[in-house]
Amino acid sequence: MEQQVLQIEILPNGPAVVYGTCTIKVGGEVQKIEKEKTFLCRCGVSKKKPYCDGSHKKVGFQG
Ligand code: FES
Repeated sequence: MEQQVLQIEILPNGPAVVYGTCTIKVGGEVQKIEKEKTFLCRCGVSKKKPYCDGSHKKVGFQG
């Protein structure tokens, strides 16, 4: 049985994209995410942290 490798992509001036099913522990709560792509905030201004809400575009995040 082949072990699945977690794939993460850092988008220039935007979020980190996690591909496939994953779990994220937020404030002690484990959330199971069953999506093709999950966008995680890197800019720090999202109102839905740890998820990206598109705010990075408004603030001109670079990184
Ligand atoms: S990276 Fe998109 S809101 Fe922070």
